[in-house]
Amino acid sequence: MTAPKNLPRRRFIKNVAIAGAAISALPLFNVHAQGAGRKFKIGLVGCGGRGNGAVENLIEGAKFLGHEIEVHAVADFFHDRATGTAKKHGIAAERVFSGATGYRQLMEQPIDIVLLATPPVFRPVHFEAAVHAGKHVFIEKPVAVDPVGARKVIAIGEVARQKGLSVVAGTQRRHQGSYLRNQYAVAHGAIGKIVGGTVSWCGGKLWFKQRDQGESDASYLVRNWTSFSEMSGDHIVEQHVHNLDVANWFIGRPPQSAVGFGGRARRQTGDQFDFFSVDFNYGDDVHIHSMCRQINGTYGGVNEFFNGTEGTTFGGGKMSSVRLASLNVPEFKTHANPYVEEHIALLDSIVKGEPLNAARTVAESTLTGIMGRIACYTGQIVRWSDLTANAESPWYQLSLSPSAADFEAGQVVAPKENVCPIPGET
Ligand SMILES: NC(=O)c1ccc[n+]([C@@H]2O[C@H](COP(=O)([O-])OP(=O)(O)OC[C@H]3O[C@@H](n4cnc5c(N)ncnc54)[C@H](O)[C@@H]3O)[C@@H](O)[C@H]2O)c1
Repeated sequence: MTAPKNLPRRRFIKNVAIAGAAISALPLFNVHAQGAGRKFKIGLVGCGGRGNGAVENLIEGAKFLGHEIEVHAVADFFHDRATGTAKKHGIAAERVFSGATGYRQLMEQPIDIVLLATPPVFRPVHFEAAVHAGKHVFIEKPVAVDPVGARKVIAIGEVARQKGLSVVAGTQRRHQGSYLRNQYAVAHGAIGKIVGGTVSWCGGKLWFKQRDQGESDASYLVRNWTSFSEMSGDHIVEQHVHNLDVANWFIGRPPQSAVGFGGRARRQTGDQFDFFSVDFNYGDDVHIHSMCRQINGTYGGVNEFFNGTEGTTFGGGKMSSVRLASLNVPEFKTHANPYVEEHIALLDSIVKGEPLNAARTVAESTLTGIMGRIACYTGQIVRWSDLTANAESPWYQLSLSPSAADFEAGQVVAPKENVCPIPGET
C-alpha cells in the first residue's frame, strides 16, 4: 500500500485508524530496507494442517523481508504429529512436546514467536500462557468457543499490549489487498453508510474419523474436533467467523444482538448443526443476514455483501460506487498470498517495535459467531451485553465442557453424539 502523496506516512496511518478502518495489518512501506537480517526463533502449538501451513507462510514471509526463521520447538496433543513436524524442520527431540500440557514446556523455550493452531477450545489458555511467557503470538481463528473464553482473550490481549507484544490473527482477509482497498473505500464514504448486507459460508461437510478400538474420548474429540461444538464452537464460529469478521470490520463495530434459527438433519456424527441463519442487528437500523451451511450437494458460496446508502460492495470484490473514482484509494500493495501477508505484518511490527494487536477484533468476531450460535440453539434473542457485560444473563458464564482444563486434567467425557439443542416447545 502506498500513502497518498500529500500525507506523511504516520499521519496517513493515523487517519486510516481514525476513520474506523481498524486495519490490523498496517500498510507496508519499503519493508525490505528496514531491519532486514534478523533471526527469529519460533514455536508451533498444534502441528496439523493449518499449523504446518502457518509455519511455511511465516518462513516465506521472513524470506520476503530478508529475515531468517528457526523452527525451534513444537507441541502437539499427539506425539507422532509433533515429531512429524520436528523432522521436517530438524528440531531436536528435547524440544518436541506432546500431550495436553506439552504447550507449557514449549512456552519455556527461548522463542520469539508462538503460533497457536490447535482446535479453538484450547486457544484462550494457550494464548494466556504465550503472553505470560512474553512471546509474540500468531493466533489462529476462532479464538474461543464460549463467552468466557472470548472475554479471556480480550483481557489477555490487553496484557500483551502492556507488554509491547504483537498479536496477529489468522483472519487473513484483513491482510488481503482487495479487502483492504474496499474497507478503506467504505470507511471513506464510497458507498455512503452501510445499512444492510449478507455474509455467508455455505459448503460441504468436513472430515470425520471413526473411533479406533479402545480410543479415549480425548483422542477421539481431538481427531474429530470439527464435528463437536465444544471443540470448534460449531461451524458458525469455526468457519463463518471469517465473514462475520469482515462485517464487523467494514461496519466498524460488533453487532448488538442476534436472532436466528438452524438445525441438524444430515449429520449423524458429532453434535453440530448443519446450518444456521441469523439476523445480526448492529444498531442504528443496520442489519446483516448471516447464513452458513455444511451439507454436501447443496449450493455453495463464501462471501460478504454490503448495501450502503450510496452504493454496494462485496467484501473483497466488485464495488458499485459513483464516489469511488474521486476517493483516491491507495493501492495496498500486499504479498500475493494473504496467509503470508499476515506473517509479514507480524514480523514487520516486531522489527519496527510497533506492535500490532488483533486480540480484541478476532475475539469480538469469534464472540459474534458465538452469539449467533446461542441464538439459534436457544431460539431466543441474544444481546451482545449478555455475553460481555450482564453477569446476570444465563449466557454470560457459559463455558462449554469438556474444556481445555478437562483435557489437561485427563477428565474428558465426550458429549452425546447425534443430539443437538431443539429450541421452543411442542
Ligand atoms: N485461517 C484459516 O483460513 C484457517 C484454515 C484452516 C484452519 N484454521 C484454524 O486453524 C486451527 C487448526 O485447524 P487445522 O485444520 O490445522 O486442524 P488439524 O486437526 O489439522 O490440526 C490441529 C492440531 O492440533 C493438535 N492439538 C489438538 N489439541 C491440542 C492441544 N491441546 N495441544 C497441542 N496440540 C493439540 C492436533 O493433534 C492437530 O495436530 C483451527 O482453529 C482452525 O479453525 C484456520
